[in-house]
Amino acid sequence: MTELLTVENLHVVFQTYAGTVYAVNGMTFSVQPGEIFGLVGESGCGKSVACLAILRILPGHGRITAGRVLFDGHDLTQAKESEMQAIRGRQIAMIFQDPSTSLNPVFTVGSQIKRIIRHHTQASRQATEQRALELLDEVALPDPPRIMQAYPHELSGGMQQRVMIAMALASGARLLIADEPTTALDVTIQNQILELLVELRRHVGLSILLITHNLGVVAETCDRVGVAYAGQIVEIGPTSEVLHTMKHPYTQGLLAALPSAQQKGRDLLSIPGSVPNGLSVIPGCPFHPRCPHVMEVCRQTPPRLTAVNPGEAQHQVACYLYSPETAQ
Ligand SMILES: Nc1ncnc2c1ncn2[C@@H]1O[C@H](COP(=O)(O)OP(=O)(O)O)[C@@H](O)[C@H]1O
Ligand SMILES: [Mg+2]
Repeated sequence: MTELLTVENLHVVFQTYAGTVYAVNGMTFSVQPGEIFGLVGESGCGKSVACLAILRILPGHGRITAGRVLFDGHDLTQAKESEMQAIRGRQIAMIFQDPSTSLNPVFTVGSQIKRIIRHHTQASRQATEQRALELLDEVALPDPPRIMQAYPHELSGGMQQRVMIAMALASGARLLIADEPTTALDVTIQNQILELLVELRRHVGLSILLITHNLGVVAETCDRVGVAYAGQIVEIGPTSEVLHTMKHPYTQGLLAALPSAQQKGRDLLSIPGSVPNGLSVIPGCPFHPRCPHVMEVCRQTPPRLTAVNPGEAQHQVACYLYSPETAQ
């Protein structure tokens, strides 16, 4: 097995006053060592909930009801809480859209990074200080000695996100889950953070699960991508294949809704309808109520992910337009 992380048929529900919310409905994807895997989809498609489920940090009314999460071959859905504590931070680190919520406002950046280094190594005071400075330099923060003394609120959002990435590196994590890490940042800063992630993948060999609603971000950074809709993967494959020869009507709609596609003189093409609220499970293909190509079978039986063609085994789509048994 070569995968670092495999999410297999994951189901997550929330019990709410409005009823059961089916947030993740059979999601399957994997992240290989040293790769950046993108999980993309509109807001509400279950991307964040899937990440929380991987780390088993769902809120109390959320529950994994089926599926497996294999990390290094070990099923995290069955792990003891004490094992999960060792995995969180040490093996798998996570960064969020708003870094200020993850940093402690009352301690300096230096003390927060050094705490993590001390927690993971037996390094002396001096070596810890040295390593902290190195890490801040590695994430391209200017003047590391000054940043060490700074409190989080004295830094910009982009700098705070770099600090979060430095802390992930300090923990020695092999997998970084980055949930919309650039969504709150200016476009130029966004690009710098994405470049940093690409560089860390190259130099440190970090594997990254990058969550985004932005296909442009995927195009620039990801080796492979999974397109999520209603808590499932509807299309998956190498980024260039998925973005150049996208098959699923949902992926096609997402691409058509990109600003760059509209600038080429096309009408603003957004996907009609909206993401389902999760309060019921849609029979058949979850996209069928919004799909311009809907057929009878789509309303009845959920399509399975299948290879787009034998020469492209990695590129898979869950859509009856491409499955031989329905082609007439
Ligand atoms: N804490 C929660 N309680 C109840 N429902 C939730 C909670 N968090 C997310 N959901 C629901 O789960 C679904 C997936 O949400 P989410 O994973 O946040 O989407 P995404 O990250 O793709 O935008 C949505 O229908 C959302 O309303
Ligand atoms: Mg989200």
